[in-house]
Amino acid sequence: MSENQVKTIGVLTSGGDAPGMNAAVRSVVRTALAHGLKVKGIRRGYTGLLEEDIIDMSSRTVADTIQHGGTILFTARCPEFMTEEGQAKGAEICRKHGIDGMVVIGGDGSFRGARALANRGINAIGVPGTIDLDIACTDYTIGFDTAVNTAMEAIDKVRDTSTSHERCSIIEVMGRTAGHIALWCGIATGAEDVLTVERYDYNEQEIINHIIEKRKSGKTHHIIINAEGIGDSHGMAKRIEAATGVSTRATIIGHIQRGGSPTCKDRVYASAMGCKAVEVLCEGKTNRIIAYKYGKFIDLDLEEALAMKKDLDPFLYEMQKKLAVM
Ligand code: ADP
Ligand code: F6P
Repeated sequence: MSENQVKTIGVLTSGGDAPGMNAAVRSVVRTALAHGLKVKGIRRGYTGLLEEDIIDMSSRTVADTIQHGGTILFTARCPEFMTEEGQAKGAEICRKHGIDGMVVIGGDGSFRGARALANRGINAIGVPGTIDLDIACTDYTIGFDTAVNTAMEAIDKVRDTSTSHERCSIIEVMGRTAGHIALWCGIATGAEDVLTVERYDYNEQEIINHIIEKRKSGKTHHIIINAEGIGDSHGMAKRIEAATGVSTRATIIGHIQRGGSPTCKDRVYASAMGCKAVEVLCEGKTNRIIAYKYGKFIDLDLEEALAMKKDLDPFLYEMQKKLAVM
């Protein structure tokens, strides 16, 4: 055993939950046990850490969980952990419970918390868990696949009724600061317009012209996928109906996208990331994030990862527009 070898791993889920988090937790627990380590589950993210809501994890505590959405460890947002005092207290509590390695499953905010622990001597590894796909260093985040499939199915259903009534439908998907869900759903459902925080210029007249043009060419429905960050779907529906004379309805899919049984991809990739996180801890590393890049699960420096920026995939974005023109 190397000097940096951890003996007890803590695992927590933090920020917005995502389908597949349970698969990641299960994999962390079982990989750690396979390496002869102890595992402690910290419930309710950093809030639970500061309140010492810490439980022993065994192979049985994660049985029958891989197929379930949500997170068995619960999740929370914890403003206190953004303070120096909160972070110092968190590291102290880890030491008190013998936790010398921590796996944090969450988004960029949660990783900043992991970095704070790493800077205070607790070996910490981030695992990207968010339906938004908005973590720059990785092409995959836990939950995105399930979320877009859930949204896609809902949009297909709205499309049926939209076509029957020859309507325009505005369907709002999640993504306050990132439009990946909107773009992927737009492509997958053959939407006419996709509005994202990254690209939309609030030129509603352009959308109105698009609807009128499509009607003239014989299209019987018009689907607009609107990202949560743009919002105002109901207001938009009223204005579009008034300007085009086309009956228009808004549907906000909401938190349905965050729940439900994870897809095969989310179960497998989340398991791989949880396993990799423990292996990286066993190598004595700290301040790392697990990423999926060019078909491989890798670990990257957390600091460098946090400094990276992510945009919508430019090829997918342009393609969506081309396919929607015809
Ligand atoms: P996500 O992890 O999905 O990005 P949040 O941004 O809400 O979600 O962050 C989740 C939690 O991570 C926060 O409630 C807070 O406890 C912790 N956190 C966020 N930013 C920081 C930070 N700069 N330093 C320490 N902890 C942070
Ligand atoms: O980050 C995941 C996400 O679902 C975003 O798409 C959304 O903007 C946000 O969380 C909503 O968070 P909540 O409703 O839990 O505050």
